[in-house]
Amino acid sequence: MKNINPTTTQSWQELERLAKDVPSLQHLFAQDKERFNKYHLNFEDILVDFSKNNVNDIIFKTLQKLAKETDLAGAIQSMFSGEKINFTENRSVLHIALRKPADQSLVVDGVDVVANVHRVLKQMKEFSDQVNSGAWTGFTGKKITDVVNIGIGGSDLGPLMVTEALKPYNQGLKLHFVSNVDGTHIVETLKQCNPETTLFIVASKTFTTQETMTNAQTAKDWLLEHANNDVNAIAKHFVALSTNLKAVSEFGIDTKYAFEFWDWVGGRYSLWSAIGLSISLSIGHDNFEQLLAGAHAVDNHFANTPFEKNIPVILALVGLWNTNFLGAQTEAILPYDQYMHRFPAYFQQGNMESNGKYVDRDGNVINYQTGPIIWGEPGTNGQHAFYQLIHQGRVLVPCDFIAPAITHNPIGDHHTKLMSNFFAQTEALAFGKSYNVVVEELKQQGKSEEEIKKLAPFKVFEGNRPTNSILVKEITPYTLGQLIALYEHKIFTQGVILNIYSFDQWGVELGKQLANNIIPELKSDAQVTSHDSSTNGLINTYKAWVK
Ligand code: F6P
Repeated sequence: MKNINPTTTQSWQELERLAKDVPSLQHLFAQDKERFNKYHLNFEDILVDFSKNNVNDIIFKTLQKLAKETDLAGAIQSMFSGEKINFTENRSVLHIALRKPADQSLVVDGVDVVANVHRVLKQMKEFSDQVNSGAWTGFTGKKITDVVNIGIGGSDLGPLMVTEALKPYNQGLKLHFVSNVDGTHIVETLKQCNPETTLFIVASKTFTTQETMTNAQTAKDWLLEHANNDVNAIAKHFVALSTNLKAVSEFGIDTKYAFEFWDWVGGRYSLWSAIGLSISLSIGHDNFEQLLAGAHAVDNHFANTPFEKNIPVILALVGLWNTNFLGAQTEAILPYDQYMHRFPAYFQQGNMESNGKYVDRDGNVINYQTGPIIWGEPGTNGQHAFYQLIHQGRVLVPCDFIAPAITHNPIGDHHTKLMSNFFAQTEALAFGKSYNVVVEELKQQGKSEEEIKKLAPFKVFEGNRPTNSILVKEITPYTLGQLIALYEHKIFTQGVILNIYSFDQWGVELGKQLANNIIPELKSDAQVTSHDSSTNGLINTYKAWVK
């Protein structure tokens, strides 16, 4: 990949100039009745409407020029061919290989990674079929009813998000996810489980993560306690998903029951790998393969479509325009689908761990904005919580609204009402309500002139708040795979243009290191003096209180 400081490009300077006189959404729509036709794209059963952004033809063209000047095409080629684009860890980045069909190949360092992927997929299918059919039994011969995935970050959020989003496809097993090292998480989960019928999946790329190994040990102790300390029970109730088979075996899990993946799978891009075993168990392996197929279709679209019609590229460019030129520091993801309630949390890690960086690919401190703050909740709940600020606050919050046209639960007129809110919100955010309209409404309500003068400013909506609307025909394993891949490639595109490394996460290390130093201090009786006065004070008060 070429390391190009985006601010030195011609297009960046042009965009800075264009940002001084940005057309409002009200103006853009009034000027061009065909705006929707021009600024929306369809990909199979997904429609992406980006027309409600402050973008006109010249801005749109200049953004594409930025992608060209920063050699996005070369970077896409580098990722797809297996170059070691995760430079600081000297690794390829090949989640795209995890969803390639079996008849394709991709040779990296002399190894066909696609063949390895399909070897593990076959192993996953056999296991998933066995558990779902009841052929796989626990230590007393009973079939498995509950599956507990123990993992954190990328080894938790993806499977959790997908199993929730695809609950209508669940084959019968009850899924639980334990991530937090707070003992409450595993204790409350185990209360719901029967040791004879519970399967634990220890999901950890490194198999060293403090939270996961602590929870896994507690789960193992719980099982052994109920199995009269018969270590043979472990093989019936524990499987591992990891790149570190040595650590799996040291933990006491037979590597026969380990599902392998590889260092070229980033944690937050791993749900497509063995880390997706809980997904396969929940929705059945054929549906899991549909998820992969959806993502693969988007991989082809991303790799082969000109930028002006390339959905991840356009989402990325519009996002960069909002953050780097219009001053937004955040982006909300708002799914109008209750099943997708963990989608924002999933891409909070996906985006913030990837692009929350302060140095460029040459190690220089960056003086432009990198990844935004990602957050969100499902609609309509968010409307009754934080939308006030999005409509009338002083912070610019570009939003992605996502909704399925067809619901899995067509009960009464719920979906019509849900969708009416989905359409209404982006309309309100873009066009607002003017002072004159407010005055007219208050007059109709019989308010006096004095009352109108007092009340009107509070009821005005300035509008001109940018949004994307992503309408999906129906959330299926295939379309969900597509949606996730669209966001993944958006994040990649932004990282390339911002000249940062999106596939490492050094920013999570310092906290881990310091916490490890503090553990022995918390276990000893001595007063702690090794830190700053605040940290010492907090630790010593904690120790006094728990004595
Ligand atoms: O939080 C840092 C991180 O390394 C994430 O990138 C990763 O998803 C998570 O920890 C879990 O790591 P592992 O799968 O190795 O347990």
